[in-house]
Amino acid sequence: MTILVTGGAGFIGSNFIFYWMKGHPEDRVVCLDKLTYAGNLSTLKPVMEHPKFRFVRGDICDREVVKALFQEERPEVVVNFAAESHVDRSVTGPEVFLQTNVMGTASLLDACRELGVERFHQVSTDEVYGDLPLDRPELFFIEETPLHTSSPYSASKAAADLLALSYHRTYGLPVTISRCSNNYGGYQFPEKFIPLMILNALRDMPLPVYGDGLNVRDWLYVEDHCRAIELILQRGRTGEVYNIGGHNERQNIDIVKLVCKTLGKPESLISYVADRKGHDRRYAIDPEKIHRELGWLPETPFDDGIQRTIQWYLDNKAWWEEIVSGEYQQYYEKMYGNRR
Ligand SMILES: NC(=O)c1ccc[n+]([C@@H]2O[C@H](COP(=O)([O-])OP(=O)(O)OC[C@H]3O[C@@H](n4cnc5c(N)ncnc54)[C@H](O)[C@@H]3O)[C@@H](O)[C@H]2O)c1
Repeated sequence: MTILVTGGAGFIGSNFIFYWMKGHPEDRVVCLDKLTYAGNLSTLKPVMEHPKFRFVRGDICDREVVKALFQEERPEVVVNFAAESHVDRSVTGPEVFLQTNVMGTASLLDACRELGVERFHQVSTDEVYGDLPLDRPELFFIEETPLHTSSPYSASKAAADLLALSYHRTYGLPVTISRCSNNYGGYQFPEKFIPLMILNALRDMPLPVYGDGLNVRDWLYVEDHCRAIELILQRGRTGEVYNIGGHNERQNIDIVKLVCKTLGKPESLISYVADRKGHDRRYAIDPEKIHRELGWLPETPFDDGIQRTIQWYLDNKAWWEEIVSGEYQQYYEKMYGNRR
């Protein structure tokens, strides 16, 4: 089988490629990624020369590129991770979010429709449900929770979800959608919350915490997310949405304190900064459906996952130093610029 993974040079997409190639060595994996600021080709170094792997630099919005790739590779399965994913950036510049997250998904859906696939899987987010109040801990997002987005990022993801579902209903395209809570683990871009705290703490820099730091996120180790997507591809029902989350709610400030403690750094590094506009208070997923239908449960307890993640950043200094210095953006040209 050939599986097309879009956005595979990013955080979750790269983890998924490693996960898939390990568990399904017989499959061909093709990665289509534009290598935006968030994509780092050096992440894919371990598989770059693998005979079952192919990397293609391209934009999912570019219909000609997408169609040509579909014609050449004839993927049976498409998993769409490609997205503009940083909420803060969507607040300052929404347009590219609409372009990639909505129009890019539309371009992939049309290629799937035209050339035929066995499955199109859209990787979505719990942020499409908006947020929950801090004083109602009994409330969780279920798949039927109304979409109620807060940021241009989540609005663009919700639009893509609805479009994908409409292609299932209208054209019978075999679509599935997963909506996952916040992921953490290795290879996450340093401007995201957990790596930012780890890297700033390591360099004795201030740890910027939005607002009062009491916002709650439901954290899931990235490999648990990858396994959930694998199960959905194998046994999920088309036309369905599956929520993925770990019942692992933490206040932002507690995570920052844990990072300080683990790295032996003083909490005086913590610096409260003005809150993000429209900042969601609490996300909490009810993963009962994927548990009941597919037997999925998170396997990595937060205490193990966060230690592993901190250790990963300690062990992979070269990876993040290249990003922090901006050098990673030259990597593609240096390694592959004159290959085609
Ligand atoms: N990170 C999380 O906690 C989280 C949680 C739930 C869902 N998600 C979703 O999972 C997916 C992956 O998230 P991530 O954290 O790995 O993101 P990321 O920002 O680390 O990676 C995104 C990747 O997509 C690529 N890309 C961006 N625009 C593109 C385009 N137009 N064409 C081709 N490639 C393009 C980037 O180069 C990058 O490699 C996203 O769809 C996101 O909405 C993320």
